[in-house]
Amino acid sequence: MSRIEIKPGVYYVGVRDWDRRLFDELIPLPDGTSYNAYIVKGKEKTCLIDTVDPPKIKELIENLNMLGINSLDYIIANHAEQDHSGGIPEILKRYPDALVVTNAKCKSLLMDLLLIPEDKFLEVEDGQSLSLGDKTLQFIFAPWVHWPETMLTYLKEDNILFPCDFFGSHLATSELYADKSPKVYESAKRYYAEIMMPFRNSIKKHLEKLRQFDIKMIAPSHGPIHNEPEFILNAYTDWTSDTVKNEVVLPYVSMHGSVEKLVHFFTEALIRREIKVLPFNLTRTDIGALAISLVDAATIVLGTPTVLTGPHPSVVYAAYLANALRPKTKFASIIGSYGWGGRAKEMLLSMLGNLKLELIEPVIIKGYPRKEHLKQLDRLADEILKRHRNIGII
Ligand code: FEO
Repeated sequence: MSRIEIKPGVYYVGVRDWDRRLFDELIPLPDGTSYNAYIVKGKEKTCLIDTVDPPKIKELIENLNMLGINSLDYIIANHAEQDHSGGIPEILKRYPDALVVTNAKCKSLLMDLLLIPEDKFLEVEDGQSLSLGDKTLQFIFAPWVHWPETMLTYLKEDNILFPCDFFGSHLATSELYADKSPKVYESAKRYYAEIMMPFRNSIKKHLEKLRQFDIKMIAPSHGPIHNEPEFILNAYTDWTSDTVKNEVVLPYVSMHGSVEKLVHFFTEALIRREIKVLPFNLTRTDIGALAISLVDAATIVLGTPTVLTGPHPSVVYAAYLANALRPKTKFASIIGSYGWGGRAKEMLLSMLGNLKLELIEPVIIKGYPRKEHLKQLDRLADEILKRHRNIGII
């Protein structure tokens, strides 16, 4: 087999994007990404599974030319987001007889987003199979990994799951296959935190459904391929479980030193109680690292000064992000300082409505921290300790 032939008749034809540093103009990509696409050649038909982001379409077509793909019967569209579907119009120009195989929801989105004519589609149902001759594709609908139309494709004879975004990672690497290194694990966890965590409950159901399939390889459309799928399946089982860890995430901003003093004292107070603390100075933090920390932590504490009667805008963003990502965090509090008044606490609390949090009495002080304020922080650390003990994570 050549280096790109992952199984007989199954080829990697994706494109690495080493230099990309932002996804959706929002998500930091410290390690770039890849848009993985695959060719499956059956005895009678050939299909392409997913395409690539439009700026990379020439590279995908070069890969197909190098592989000698002169005709294509099907383009499987597992997901309508443009980093996978955006190349379909150019692929249809190169292979005008190909049909886009997807579900009704994805078809509708592709017609709207990419203006693909309706007669170019072959619509499939959940569980339906498509024969390529000696190879059979089965389609598994899996809404909300990442959009409502997402589906997975299972190649029965070779036991390969092509899940598109699901189980992916934003990691450009020359290695085709995932190893069990901390780097690979961290990239997959970052991807889960940023993309998948809001859909934790749906994902749990999909993981359950996938148990009925004999999966020997997971070939996602971002990052390395998992030829030992238990590694990523176990990680997802852990991340999506209801179990939290003895950890406090502490995103904060300090303008004139008061919040910084609170944060430093509080951090040490938690460490003395053997609680892991993850402080993030929001003026310089990687927002992806903050997202990763939210995957497991039992508690989040926001630290803010008062700006124009409200919280600092960077803390507003952290609260918005936490609320949008819907981590399984169980407890929350706020520490902060003001000069002459304000509603920072009320405003932040109103932003966390998606999370089923128990609020622990915040510590909001006037001016620079004095002894009595530090005692309040000790009491807050005690309350967190008590709750972590109550749920059995200490
Ligand atoms: Fe990689 Fe949701 O697209």
